[in-house]
Amino acid sequence: MNYIDWLSRKDLEYRDGGLYFANLNTLGIAEKFRTPIYIINEKTIRKRYRELKDTLNSGYKKNKIYFAVKSNTNLSILKILVSERSNFDCSSTGEIHACLSSGISPERIIYTGNMFTNNDFKFAIDNDILTNLDSYSQLIRLANLYEKNGKDKRILSFRFNPEFGAGHHPHTITAGKEIKFGILENQMIKVYSKARDLGFKKFGIHQHIGSGIINAKDYEKPIEKFITIIEKLSSQLGIQFEFVDFGGGLGIPYRPEQDPLDLNIYSEIVFTRFKEIVEKGEIGEPFLFIEPGRYISAESSIILTQINTIKDNGYKLFAGLDAGFNTLIRPTMYGSYHHIINCNEKHKKKILKYDIVGPICESGDVLGKDRELPELNEGDYLAILDAGAYGYTMSSPYNSRPRPAELLINDGNLYKIRNEETFDDLIRNQTVPDYLK
Ligand SMILES: Cc1ncc(COP(=O)(O)O)c(C=O)c1O
Repeated sequence: MNYIDWLSRKDLEYRDGGLYFANLNTLGIAEKFRTPIYIINEKTIRKRYRELKDTLNSGYKKNKIYFAVKSNTNLSILKILVSERSNFDCSSTGEIHACLSSGISPERIIYTGNMFTNNDFKFAIDNDILTNLDSYSQLIRLANLYEKNGKDKRILSFRFNPEFGAGHHPHTITAGKEIKFGILENQMIKVYSKARDLGFKKFGIHQHIGSGIINAKDYEKPIEKFITIIEKLSSQLGIQFEFVDFGGGLGIPYRPEQDPLDLNIYSEIVFTRFKEIVEKGEIGEPFLFIEPGRYISAESSIILTQINTIKDNGYKLFAGLDAGFNTLIRPTMYGSYHHIINCNEKHKKKILKYDIVGPICESGDVLGKDRELPELNEGDYLAILDAGAYGYTMSSPYNSRPRPAELLINDGNLYKIRNEETFDDLIRNQTVPDYLK
């Protein structure tokens, strides 16, 4: 993919040297609002959702997409996806609360937590949320709580750990014997037969092998193992599945030289063996679920940020921003690459190499290392791309810097969908004991 096409995939283009995002001039936005600021393009969210929906529909009609809420919990994003008829995958009761607050009905939510507390389970039972467990002991506790609450044990799912994982960083690989998630092969028969003995009537099954997978072939081995365990549960225990959830993990091209994930290869890997076992008629007539987060939300957003300091220490050049790892932690946490570009390239010819750094009092606060950019000046604005997944949701008020605002672009109009935090917000929940007053 050439650079212009790569930018245009993200709805970005230069017109007469000025950077336009979703048809709006980024300089105009930067001058109107305080930076740093997140800007979300509604069109991209819808486009990516529909791409995946079309892919699933073309292979297996009985399917559902569960948007992974952890990637972006903004209520307006949830509403956009509600209007696309998405379902929602939540990793905590807080995420479920956000969904319920957006008017999402409980039957459209799946709760894939880990290290669940009894309070987590009570919340799920009280709100009729389907849970996806990842240990034997959780099953025993959940069943007890259902009995205490006098509620019907309708449907349950377990997360399988296929031991083959993948992802953009070791911390995002979620399968393997050393990994905390899921249930290994040798305990799968035990948990499903116990769940049936405890009175659960219907079952689903789930796996999620990691996050940020750009090579679709990485799904091949784990899916083969997943299919084998599904067949085994059906043949040995006679389980008929209501759904088979293949998880998320679909990556996006963060780097200009990267090609997008090949959805044809992905769908062939997902559908081929799955359809074979469904057609054999031994595992029931399950729905096929996937749980993408990043694929739908990442490319929808940029962060606009202003350069406050250009520093030449005699050895290298630094461009200092008002955004740091408090605004976007992925580069510091995972060494992730986010492409960074000028909002105004007019009259800029000289290319120089910069470390793009934030204002946080840590030397790890580097958003881009050794980036070659048209000469930068203090006061210039930059755009940090692909910030819509694990961007705002992982931001923090570290160094007591309030979190930024979020804007939404719909059809050429700008809407403020989250206010920036204030200094008062940062201290609001603290109380000082009387003896210190
Ligand atoms: C269980 C589960 N499902 C889905 C996702 C979404 O992953 P991604 O945003 O890479 O699609 C995650 C991410 O960590 C996850 O843990």
